[in-house]
Amino acid sequence: DASTAVATAHPNIALVKYWGKQDEELVLPLADSLSMTLDVFPTTTCVTRCPGAPADTVTMDGRPASQEAARRVVRFLDLVRQRSACDDRASVATRNTVPVGAGLASSASGFAALALAAAAAYGLGLDPAGLSRLARRGSGSAARSVFGGFALWHAPGPHAPDPDAACYAEPLAGVRVDAALVVVLLDTGPKSVSSREAMRRTVATSPLFPAWLAATRLDLRHMRAALEAGDLATAGEIAEHNALGMHATLESADPPVRYLTEQSHRVLEQVRALRTAGAGCWATMDAGPNVKVLCPGDQATRIAERLTTATGFPAVVARPGPAAALHPGA
Ligand code: DP6
Repeated sequence: DASTAVATAHPNIALVKYWGKQDEELVLPLADSLSMTLDVFPTTTCVTRCPGAPADTVTMDGRPASQEAARRVVRFLDLVRQRSACDDRASVATRNTVPVGAGLASSASGFAALALAAAAAYGLGLDPAGLSRLARRGSGSAARSVFGGFALWHAPGPHAPDPDAACYAEPLAGVRVDAALVVVLLDTGPKSVSSREAMRRTVATSPLFPAWLAATRLDLRHMRAALEAGDLATAGEIAEHNALGMHATLESADPPVRYLTEQSHRVLEQVRALRTAGAGCWATMDAGPNVKVLCPGDQATRIAERLTTATGFPAVVARPGPAAALHPGA
């Protein structure tokens, strides 16, 4: 039935972070970012057009979505309706396997899956870059979850004639590292400040933000070179440094935003201790307390065990995952 489509997408973790927008409405970032899509915690979303229905309905894991989440989905569907010749309301049913709001990028997998399913249900016929641009409007980081493996999301340059058109992610070719991310799960509660608000506040008030942004542009160049050279140690050092810098801008915002907890810092200490003992592992953290640890794929299981033993927190090994995909015949 052409009025229904189901899609699955996976979260991604940025090794060079997206933090700061040049345009809120269009979700245009200030700088390029680079991520790895995971093979764990997928989100599956079913979109069904409902001709004649008075309003969209949105459920998450079988329950009505929160007002805020539903509003974001409806705004996204409005965008899809604007671009299609069809004004039907829809029912949207989402299943998450990622702890919502814990800085594990459920909005990335969520809006990537929604973009793919909604584009199919409304017959938009978009290519991958077009899907990435569309997903971006739901949540910036979702632009990268359209792709599997490693992805690079382009920020439009200051003189781009059409900034929206220039702003999409694409798969990063030529990556020669065998990498895994060990996700240490500290807290699955909802976050205190949304990344949207925190980002806005950081750009507007943190005196450290301009320096971090300039460093991020260099980090991206060096990260690409390291991944292409198969140099995971350099990639790991850049990723950890870039993430710590982002959190420094957050903590120096007014009022400050603190996503990292005592527990996060305990894990960070263990990552450093493992490194001192000769292990190749480097940490990265997003808009929540969880710590993700970049390491060689063939050592990931052992590093996960050692981190769990040392800290008591459960850890999940994530490897490079697949692109967002439609379910055939749904
Ligand atoms: C810290 O994509 O959630 O995970 O565009 O406002 O929805 P919005 O923000 P969002 O921000 C993610 C920020 C981050 C870093 C990253 O994924 O690059």
